[in-house]
Amino acid sequence: MSETSARLRAVGISGSPSATSKSRVLVEHALAQLEARGAATRLIDVATLPGDALLGRGSAAQVADALARVAEARIVVAGTPVYRATYSGLLKVFFDLLPQDGLVGKVGVPIVTGHGVAHSLAVDHGLRPLFASVGATLVANGVYATSEQFRDGKPEPGLCAAVERAVREAMALARAAID
Ligand SMILES: Cc1cc2nc3c(=O)[nH]c(=O)nc-3n(C[C@H](O)[C@H](O)[C@H](O)COP(=O)(O)O)c2cc1C
Repeated sequence: MSETSARLRAVGISGSPSATSKSRVLVEHALAQLEARGAATRLIDVATLPGDALLGRGSAAQVADALARVAEARIVVAGTPVYRATYSGLLKVFFDLLPQDGLVGKVGVPIVTGHGVAHSLAVDHGLRPLFASVGATLVANGVYATSEQFRDGKPEPGLCAAVERAVREAMALARAAID
């Protein structure tokens, strides 16, 4: 393992409230691929964090820890279902807690699942501006998947390949930023 990959940290943020979330499966696949390439990874499942702290009605150690994990990461993977043609409210409230410019110098990987293809632009019209609002540099190829691309909750090979391509891009960008 190189010194660069040993230093590299990545977080995955899952913005689905579903216990059987498809988008979280893709975030977990991305994290597994990042681990295989030497990154230290951590999953932040926003649905498990205390709601009052997420909504700014107080503080909670779990939310503070999640924000700290994002702050120390070089790569930030964000996964969300399409809700009403864009990202979930759950993902939005977590991003609202990030500091201004909180993702400057970090590489963002957007992952979205929707029921059909009609809202595939949620990657480019929803997640890209969301990431950009806090300063992230994004991979060129985000991931959008429909329900048909899962069998028994598992992503089809072509979808896994799309996630792996995004991960390769993220690693290349992150290493370029470090060197
Ligand atoms: C409240 C709600 C709103 C949704 N809105 C859309 C939508 O606008 N477009 C779409 O394609 N799918 C929509 N869906 C379907 C989900 O995006 C889709 O099932 C997704 O794969 C779920 O991801 P998850 O398993 O990670 O939660 C919606 C589902 C819910 C529960």
